[in-house]
Amino acid sequence: MDSLKRAAAESACSLVKDGYVLGLGTGSTVYFLIDELARRIKEEGLDVVCVPTSRGTAITAREKGITIASLEEYDALDLAIDGADQVSDKLDLIKGGGAAHTREKIVASLSKRFVVIVDEGKLSEKLSLPVPVEVLPFSWKVVARKLEDMDATTVVRQGSGKSGPVITDNGNYVLDADFGIIEDPESLEAEINLIKGVVENGIFPGMAHEVRVGTDNGVKILRKPG
Ligand code: 5RP
Repeated sequence: MDSLKRAAAESACSLVKDGYVLGLGTGSTVYFLIDELARRIKEEGLDVVCVPTSRGTAITAREKGITIASLEEYDALDLAIDGADQVSDKLDLIKGGGAAHTREKIVASLSKRFVVIVDEGKLSEKLSLPVPVEVLPFSWKVVARKLEDMDATTVVRQGSGKSGPVITDNGNYVLDADFGIIEDPESLEAEINLIKGVVENGIFPGMAHEVRVGTDNGVKILRKPG
């Protein structure tokens, strides 16, 4: 899988041009992007500034010599590149496997173009993975009940060992809410976000302009219809 992730990441990196403000996603596929970006900066003198979507991405990018900035400095981005946990036939996404979906969604929404990089194992006709829902710790239980009223089963995401709940970069918990097959991602995304105490959920409906998929036969490019 790593070679497929790397191929998708390198292909998307070729879209980055001199002078770009680039949104940098989170996850193992994005690490390959960071590697390739660092190589281009070093070998080609590529001039880019990156807005990272997580502390992890910021640390790795900085270590590799990439210039990091925040949304206080840039509120419009040329391009954002990020991974995903699942991609539907309509290019709707589930994200948040790394608990970074809130910042990822903000950065993607501010970018002229949002390109997703995945291996082919992430493709699915319809979205069906549990939806990561970032919640304020204060209200996690009531939010879980409301999600269950919407026919989801929920678990509070746990860290490794006995470390307790995963805490996001924003200081919150993540509920993984399993709705089974999601027939209408756009409506479900909106409905979940109406629950008081929800910060953001991991459904990204219609946001990806392009998905670059690493396959055994090369990188396949899927584009949003229309
Ligand atoms: C983090 C994400 C990641 O993009 C998603 O989990 C995919 O990760 P990976 O590239 O490691 O498979 O949404 O919140």
